[in-house]
Amino acid sequence: MKGVLLLCTLLLAPCGGGSDPGAAWPTHMACRNGDLQVFYQSCDPLQDFGFSIDQCSRQVRPNVNIRFGIILRQDISHLFLDVTLVSKGVTILSYSYPICEEDLPKFSFCGRRKGEQIYYAGPIGNSEFDIPQGKYEILLELYNEHRSIVACANATVLCS
Ligand SMILES: *[C@@H]1O[C@H](CO)[C@@H](O)[C@H](O)[C@H]1NC(C)=O
Repeated sequence: MKGVLLLCTLLLAPCGGGSDPGAAWPTHMACRNGDLQVFYQSCDPLQDFGFSIDQCSRQVRPNVNIRFGIILRQDISHLFLDVTLVSKGVTILSYSYPICEEDLPKFSFCGRRKGEQIYYAGPIGNSEFDIPQGKYEILLELYNEHRSIVACANATVLCS
């Protein structure tokens, strides 16, 4: 049910959005539960996307399930993720992570083509960790081997 809702949100999102370069995409809730809230906003001027986290807890379990839906504007036989974590204006962590490589496709959607719609619901293969109290800003950028943006988001994590 949750997945269907997510996909509807994605498909109902205004397409293009190019006429007003100053307009921002709406802020979405990725998860909210007790002491943890995660919001995100697409920073790709051309499209919004759907994302949610199934287990919302500051004690992050291994292999958390997420849901992610997007219409591809690029081929993704190669897909990389850049993550930058900022707290109080200071970058505290920044890393690049390969998600799809031709010889090592980690996810079922690897290799999908431009124009296709993907919807992924499943684990992300994370390890276990606790989120320390605080407010964090996370910048996420998914791009292919030509450095073409597949998705871009800025998220805010509030952990009290
Ligand atoms: C995303 O970034 C914009 C611009 O810095 C900011 O106004 C907005 O609050 C951020 N959204 C989230 C969900 O962090």
